[in-house]
Amino acid sequence: MNNNIADLRENYSKAKLDRSALVDDPILQFKAWFDNVLSSKIIEPNAMTISTVNESGVPSSRVVLLKEITETGIVFYTNYNSDKAQDLESNPNIAVNFLWKEIERQVRIQGLATKISRDRSEAYYHSRPKGSQIGAWASPQSQIISDRSVLEEKQKELESQYQNTEKLPIPPHWGGYEITINMIEFWQGRPSRLHDRFRYRKEGDVWIVERVAP
Ligand SMILES: Cc1cc2nc3c(=O)[nH]c(=O)nc-3n(C[C@H](O)[C@H](O)[C@H](O)COP(=O)(O)O)c2cc1C
Repeated sequence: MNNNIADLRENYSKAKLDRSALVDDPILQFKAWFDNVLSSKIIEPNAMTISTVNESGVPSSRVVLLKEITETGIVFYTNYNSDKAQDLESNPNIAVNFLWKEIERQVRIQGLATKISRDRSEAYYHSRPKGSQIGAWASPQSQIISDRSVLEEKQKELESQYQNTEKLPIPPHWGGYEITINMIEFWQGRPSRLHDRFRYRKEGDVWIVERVAP
């Protein structure tokens, strides 16, 4: 078996992308690609890497789950005291990346993240399994903890406190962000590294679609 990292490569040949296959509205285009990926056998196609920048300009990336596609953007949920939330407090610019390697596609997004309303966050929070609702209370996300038992003891305490209900109150430090899209790029892998890339960018109220070299 060849264990040489430098020799790892795929040649992409499953599909191509033409301007004529793209609709003018980038959200509708994203929805079309998302519907397509849902019908493929990809695990967690809604997993997306989001990148934020802190006050010193240092970037961080991590995976979160896409939970809604709206008319202007996309929504994810997290802890409002987390590192990512603190980054967004000082700089709402955010970059998003989806890699759907089984269908040789990538989507890249740049946008601005803003907190959604408490009502919307609460409705989603209560749609989650009780265990996840407890988890949101039990985890001081991004904080240093001494041991896993810190989480498990908190979890037990909450299970006992809320044993008679399926709906916990939403933690004040937990909720959603909507990313308003300013730029979105659709990438389709092609043979010999000559991939198809189309980028939507906004000029005033109008979306411009341009082919970009791979
Ligand atoms: C597949 C996957 C899905 C995840 N989904 C979420 C999510 O929806 N929200 C979230 O806050 N963290 C999610 N995480 C955990 C984050 O990647 C990250 O560890 C956490 O949000 C803390 O990031 P931060 O310290 O940079 O704020 C997920 C991780 C993985 C691997």
